Amino acid sequence: MTHESAFKRVKKLREILNEANRQYYDLASPTISDREFDRLMEELISLERDYDLHHPTSPSARVGGGLSKHFDVVKHPVPMLSLSNSYNEQELRDFDKRVRQVLGDRSFTYFVELKFDGMALRLRYENGELVLGATRGNGQQGDDITTNVKTLRDIPLQLHGDYPSVVEIRGEAYMEHEAFVRFNKSRQENGETAFANPRNATAGSLKLQDSSLVAKRPIRFFAYDLLLEDNETLTHDARMHKLSDWGLRVCEERGVCTNIEEVLSKVSNLETRRKSLPYDTDGVVIKINEDVYRQELGNTAKAPKWAIAYKFEAEQAQTVINDISLQVGRLGTITPVAELEPVLLAGTTVKRASLHNEDEIKRKDIRVGDYVIIEKAGEIIPQVVQVVDLKTTKRGQSFRMPDHCPACASKLVRQEGEVAWKCINTLCPPQIRIKIEHFASRGAMDIDGLGEAVVDQLVSADLIKTYADLYTLEHNDLVKLDRMAEKSAANLIEAISESKKQVAERVLFGLGIRFVGATVAKDLIAAFGSIHKLAEASTEEIANIHGIGNKIAESVREFFDQPANLETIHRLNSYGLQMETTVRDTVESKITGQTFVLTGSLPTLSRNEATALIEKHGGKVTGSVSKNTDFVLAGDAAGSKLDKAMKLGVTVLKEEDFFRMISL
Ligand code: IVH
Repeated sequence: MTHESAFKRVKKLREILNEANRQYYDLASPTISDREFDRLMEELISLERDYDLHHPTSPSARVGGGLSKHFDVVKHPVPMLSLSNSYNEQELRDFDKRVRQVLGDRSFTYFVELKFDGMALRLRYENGELVLGATRGNGQQGDDITTNVKTLRDIPLQLHGDYPSVVEIRGEAYMEHEAFVRFNKSRQENGETAFANPRNATAGSLKLQDSSLVAKRPIRFFAYDLLLEDNETLTHDARMHKLSDWGLRVCEERGVCTNIEEVLSKVSNLETRRKSLPYDTDGVVIKINEDVYRQELGNTAKAPKWAIAYKFEAEQAQTVINDISLQVGRLGTITPVAELEPVLLAGTTVKRASLHNEDEIKRKDIRVGDYVIIEKAGEIIPQVVQVVDLKTTKRGQSFRMPDHCPACASKLVRQEGEVAWKCINTLCPPQIRIKIEHFASRGAMDIDGLGEAVVDQLVSADLIKTYADLYTLEHNDLVKLDRMAEKSAANLIEAISESKKQVAERVLFGLGIRFVGATVAKDLIAAFGSIHKLAEASTEEIANIHGIGNKIAESVREFFDQPANLETIHRLNSYGLQMETTVRDTVESKITGQTFVLTGSLPTLSRNEATALIEKHGGKVTGSVSKNTDFVLAGDAAGSKLDKAMKLGVTVLKEEDFFRMISL
């Protein structure tokens, strides 16, 4: 390839990938498959490398990959201050009074917006290009975490439209509740410790030294401040609009108020709305809207005098710890759990709270019988915040972790450098159960009807000890179980048998190897082609795969080094499970290399079937019609995509036309 054609191809790839990113993140409607996306990204990365075409705003910068031994320290040209807090109406009225004492009867407005509970970031753009992403640090100087910040999709690498040569932006990185719960769950499934709340998860992620790991974390960003070099006298409101025009995300929950009464009503409105928001907020920030007045009001050493935070009431409750029980996880981790006297908190009754680990209990000196304050951490997981100091109560004994597993009585171990105690008995019943449940779960083998209750009975009745035993179950075994009718037994046998068709990456994920989540499993199968080959690979060979670190490689090796695990793999293979990638043979046809868009419902083919057929014949399916679309395959009730195709003069096919094309 000549340098010129490489340059052209790189340009094209960047366009495609930027558009795909936009479709995926802004419109939540992917246009190309993950596989196609990865393939194009790899092509871009290797062309940029081979032809020295790196560019800081290329979508390849989003993938991360740079390892930083440490972060450089950067000084903030304008300090990143904190905010003074207020907790009630009176304190807000006092703030208003202080402001009016300075501004007299000149008319000014307030800008009210949410206070996001995440981690503050500073962004710097020069000539529209993102050149720096930094943490707040001590307010005067922070860490240069640009490589990590570049992986956040909400942060444009290049500003859109008209922008001044230097732009400083501040805002908050955070995680949405749902994404946080999913992320934590997958961490736990992989034997990693869960984060206590979205804020910690965000901060922990942004400080990772490997930006390719940061790229996989669901971190989002809201901009809340814009500093311009030439000190334009724009209102805050106008600045927010600018930010949004340039492609940054700003929160919609905001408003301009002309007096304190309006502020109070907006605040109470936001306090009600907060529960329905998909992210955490711990209050509202009230800022003077006009820049001139801000300058006149000035700052104290720590916080501006032109702004104040109003903190929402923390969602806390007081209750008693009735007992401390121990939970055994899939990988044997023992988690102490507080069994609480049920109490109402933020709309739900809370009966249990995680105590995380032994150290945490010691640090907070939590004992059975204690009165404690509990809080919804990040408004999701209840946590014990502190023990209430009731001098009169007689306290129980200090908590001691037992020496033996509460479920199987084997001796617990605590590895050096780890906080968790573990039961390492692979036949420990709760671990067996959780492993089987994981194997059968939707992201893995997706065996319908194999829920907790059924697994529990199968294990208790000694019918299964490992997931491989599932494939030896017979109808007669199942009908003996409680509440298992003939029909459900038959369905379950069928579902187990059907699961043999699941692809190898799902099987690998289902094995439940520590640190091997669904994505890692996919990467490993793509790299090695089969579970057998992976089982034979050395730690170094595994760690060499892009995106796979030593920690994962060692864990994989450790798993396959155990004869019992190899035996299980051998059995799964003999039952006919998929152990290798299924490389689909593509057939050369009239549609090879052509781009399709599907719309409406086709007479005989489902969307997935049509896509599979197109791909099998060398075509590609995208989500939206553009001048690059070759064909629109339209069925009944086709909508706007059909209109667009007509407008652009794209050929529209009926299902029968399509069949004719691929059969010739
Ligand atoms: S304005 C000088 N606006 O709160 C003005 N801060 O206590 C300071 N924060 O570390 C920032 N949401 O990370 C502002 N809408 C918002 C905010 C916000 C969250 C955080 C910010 C800062 C802390 C200040």
